[in-house]
Amino acid sequence: HRKYAPAPVIAKPDRRWPDRRIERAPVFASVDLRDGNQALERPMSVEQKLQFFDLLVGIGVTEIEVGFPSASQPDFDFTRRLIEEGRIPDHVTIQVLTQAREDLIRRTFEALAGVPRAIVHVYNSTNPAQREQVFGLDRDGVRRIAENGARWVRDIAAEYPGTDWTFQYSPESYSATEPDYAVEVVDAVNAIWRPDQGQQVIINLPATVEITTPNVFADQVEWFCDRVAMREHFVLSLHTHNDRGTGVAAAELGLLAGADRLEGTLFGNGERTGNMDLITVAMNLYSQGIDPKIDLSEMERIEAVYRECTGLPVHPRHPWAGELVYTAFSGSHQDAIRKGMVHQQRRGGPWQVPYLPIDPRDLGRHYEAVVRINSQSGKGGVTHVLERDHGITLPRWLAVEFARAVQAAAEASGAEVNSRTVHSLFDRLYLAT
Ligand code: KIV
Ligand code: ZN
Repeated sequence: HRKYAPAPVIAKPDRRWPDRRIERAPVFASVDLRDGNQALERPMSVEQKLQFFDLLVGIGVTEIEVGFPSASQPDFDFTRRLIEEGRIPDHVTIQVLTQAREDLIRRTFEALAGVPRAIVHVYNSTNPAQREQVFGLDRDGVRRIAENGARWVRDIAAEYPGTDWTFQYSPESYSATEPDYAVEVVDAVNAIWRPDQGQQVIINLPATVEITTPNVFADQVEWFCDRVAMREHFVLSLHTHNDRGTGVAAAELGLLAGADRLEGTLFGNGERTGNMDLITVAMNLYSQGIDPKIDLSEMERIEAVYRECTGLPVHPRHPWAGELVYTAFSGSHQDAIRKGMVHQQRRGGPWQVPYLPIDPRDLGRHYEAVVRINSQSGKGGVTHVLERDHGITLPRWLAVEFARAVQAAAEASGAEVNSRTVHSLFDRLYLAT
């Protein structure tokens, strides 16, 4: 994967600013079918969830939270269908969420009966506001909720020995919880699960509501890694939301701070402003020459399934994926892209075309959409369209003159001028007689 070169290293101004960059992809876990689904105006039907699940599997997501089966009958039914119809490939692990209550945990395991492998994800809120307002409990009382949850998960899992279980714990609202208290709770959970004795454990730190700048969240993650017990024996996962618009940045800085795994959703669907956008993080890695192990080469199909299942649009300027993000209307950009493409073809090597951070063909996009003409366009764009679509190469003086005519036509119509119209205008002005 050397098509894209990482950004250049900046000399460190001083020792407090270490040069850190993400060197390899985290494990990506999708929470589309749970966090994403629970935030939809119209939750997905079982059929839509199946379609979405197949999409996630198809693009290479290996850990998929499929629902909250103890809280929702459709989620229970969906989990059963996945298992009974044998729809879970060997390399994919499903995950289900549950609160730390015995009856709910028991029901969760019923939903999973017969699955070869699964992640049981138990959570409880640990931040002071919820301790006081929702549970009316002090720190010890809330820690006991987590401990009881961990015990029930461990003991009920033992009743299903045919399954390879991973246990996951989330101190919900980790980012709003006192750091020392979060470590205390996680240590207590791990003392029951014993990842150091071979139990597979994921500890997931949620920024349930994003309340700080991403560097502060990363500091919280680093602080946690430095103090938590048995760190080398469990997978550290992050679950960021996007309330301040920096869910992706928080997740990326969190990786630098020591996390191994990220939970997110396609296009950032999820509660309120959404979850971390898995597509953006994966593409950010890809564009720096790191294989995200997520295949986004059929972006239009991914968007179509997403739209159909969630009922949500993808913004035309959505990072990497939006319909307009590889399109240039303005003259100077078009000119630079045209020259850059010629250069790229001749020279080869890492991708370096101005204004195009990656080759749009990598996402299944076509070059036709890159240069489009309206009143903002100049000779570079017009020349590009005539050459690309009609095999006509113009000398510079004619390109300048013809671009003026195209610009006048675009100004008069106030709209985009498509390639056919550019050609017929050229035909009328220069060839027709
Ligand atoms: O945002 C959150 O805290 C969650 C947890 C249940 C992990 O979705
Ligand atoms: Zn969430």
